Formats: sequence, C-alpha cells, structure tokens
Amino acid sequence: MSPSAHITVLGIETSCDETAVAVVRRAADGAGEILSNVVRSQWQEHAAFGGVVPEIAARAHLECLDDLAATALKDAACELDDIDLVAATAGPGLIGGLLVGLTFAKSLALAADTPLAAINHLEGHALTVGLTDGVRPPYVLLLVSGGHTQTLLVRDIGSYVRLGTTVDDALGEAFDKTAKLLGLDAPGGPSVERFAADGNADAFAFPRPMLGRDAPHFSFAGLKTAVRRAAEAAAPITDRTTADICASFQAAVTDCVADRIERAIALASGASTAPPPALVIAGGVAANRTLRGRLEGLAAEHGLGLIAPPPPLCTDNAAMIAWAAAERHAAGKLEADGFDVAARARWPLDEVSAPVFGSGRLGVKA
Ligand code: KG4
Ligand code: ZN
Repeated sequence: MSPSAHITVLGIETSCDETAVAVVRRAADGAGEILSNVVRSQWQEHAAFGGVVPEIAARAHLECLDDLAATALKDAACELDDIDLVAATAGPGLIGGLLVGLTFAKSLALAADTPLAAINHLEGHALTVGLTDGVRPPYVLLLVSGGHTQTLLVRDIGSYVRLGTTVDDALGEAFDKTAKLLGLDAPGGPSVERFAADGNADAFAFPRPMLGRDAPHFSFAGLKTAVRRAAEAAAPITDRTTADICASFQAAVTDCVADRIERAIALASGASTAPPPALVIAGGVAANRTLRGRLEGLAAEHGLGLIAPPPPLCTDNAAMIAWAAAERHAAGKLEADGFDVAARARWPLDEVSAPVFGSGRLGVKA
C-alpha cells in the first residue's frame, strides 16, 4: 500500500448513539469519493430515558453492526477483498460503544487481511471538508455537537492546536436540555430552532457566559439555568412564551459563539505564519440557520470563507472516519495499529495543550 496510490477504506463509527459504516475511496490526486455511507441512529432506544444510556448504546451497536457492514459493502459494490484498510473510531466517546466498533474492526481487518487504523473521532470531524469540499489545512474549525464544543486550528493532517473548549456543557447538549425543560420533542436543537422562528429574541435577557474573555473557551451551564428559571416563572407556559424563550436562548448562544470564534480567529492568526484562509464549522449544531448566518457574516468580515459540510456529514458518520484514515495514509502519517490497540474514552486531538479542566465526565467533551 504505497501512499501515492488510491486507497479504499472501510470506516466504522460507534462512539455515541449512531452506528455507522462507510466505504470511501481516495484517489492519488487527493479527490475523495463516498462509495457508501450507512448510518443508523439510536434516538428511539434512548428517548424514554431522556438521554443516551451507555449500556443501551453499546448493545444496539452490537446488534446491527454486522448488517450495516454488509449493507455498506453492498451499496459500494465492493467485496471485502476490495478494501485496503479498515478504520474505526477508537475515541473519544462512550467506552462500551467504542469497544464494540473497534473489536468489530479488528475482526474485519483480520478477515480481510488489511491493516487496521484506530482513528480519533474529532479528527474525522476536523478533516471532513477535505472529502466534501476539497479544502485542505490550514483552517480554523468550530466543532459543535451534542458531545463536543471546541475550536481548533487545523494546521496540517495530524497537526491540531486546540484553541477553545467548553468548561461545562456542550452546545448541542444546551439545546437538548432547553428543549427538554420546555417539553419540546427530541432532538432538541431542531425543535428549539423551529419555535425560535416565531419568537422575540429580546423577550428574555439571558446571560452571555464568557463574553469578552481572552481565552476562547465556552460555557453554557449558566445559560441553561437561566432558561429553567424563566420557564418556571412563566408556568403554565404558553406556546408564545416557549417561542420567546427559544428565540432569546438562540440569540444568547449565537452571541457567545460569535464572540468566542472571533477570539479563536485572532489566536489562530497569531499562531500561524499566514492567517488561516477559512472558517470551517462541523457537528450537528452547525445546521442551525441563525448561528450559520451569523458566522457567515463574521467570516466575511475577517476575509475568510465559511465552509460547512452538508448536514449528513456534519453529524456523526463513518465516511469521516474512513476519510481521516485515507488522508493520514496519503500524508505518510498512518502507522497501522496493532490488534492490541485500545479504545479511549478520553482522547484529546491536541495532546500538547494543557487540559482546561482535569478529568471526569466533562473530559469526553473536551
Ligand atoms: O453531531 P451530532 O449529530 O451528534 C453528536 O452529538 O456527536 O449532533 C447532535 C446535536 C444534538 O444536540 C442536536 O440537538 C443538535 O446537534 N442539533 C441542532 C440542530 N440540529 C441538530 N442544534 C441547533 N440547531 C439545529 N438545527
Ligand atoms: Zn461527533
């Protein structure tokens, strides 16, 4: 397998509540092609519990991975023999699900007699724009999903500098919790956005945590508490008030993210010889139109292009895992992992920068 040749990679993603398998081909000239991309969401399994239950997630991955891999190969019109490399998410994420996916990948690589690549989930998100838009580093990345909230300077394949991260809740989590306490349907983000469209964004003066701070970190826990207090004070809540709370929450979040990104761009410009030419947004929350609109304006003010992968490739998928492995391979930065490679619940993409906080539950989101 020479780095200059084209390569066909089967990717597996099981770090949270989506089971995904994809087959991606990278041509020698760097062009990417998705041959298949199968995603099965577990929302229904977790809905009754109000959040993702790790044991249920691991079991659900196990139950469908076999079928999904067969479907991905069939959709791609590939046999196992056509696969050059098997890649799986090895972290960060829920350890049970990671173990299921990585162990499955090991057996598949053994059966197919291919090398195995253990991929960082965040690297998958970080490099997706290479696959979707042919955009290569350097760029500034805002990753905002139910599990992650961070800004990174993507310097090169395999070279990432963390600029900012959340010190408490992830942004998607803040949307989901807001929806839950207002009694809106899951997933929360789209529900809040829908209600916000009919609301008055000035109706509630919600806080803007971290605004103006030097380090471009995020915090959403205080905002969530303010939303709860507003909802309690307005009980029994009407659709009108729900819409106003959603609009005011969305406005507060957008102000926070815009301010933090502005700071991250300034830091990134100082950390590289040339200012990064693009702002890339990824993760489920990147689908939010108010946020997107604001960031488009902000990027333009800084002379940057705003690039966002299409929503199905913004949210968790396995094409991004296969692609990250293919890019690493092409850059000569893929050391095939041994079959003893371990899953990691915590795995910062930037292993050099000091952690913003110690350990525990929040670590996964960093
Ligand atoms: O990337 P993703 O599919 O999964 C991970 O969490 O890794 O992101 C899902 C998150 C959920 O919190 C969901 O509420 C949020 O993205 N989301 C949105 C929107 N669509 C999805 N948040 C705000 N506005 C949206 N339109
Ligand atoms: Zn993700």
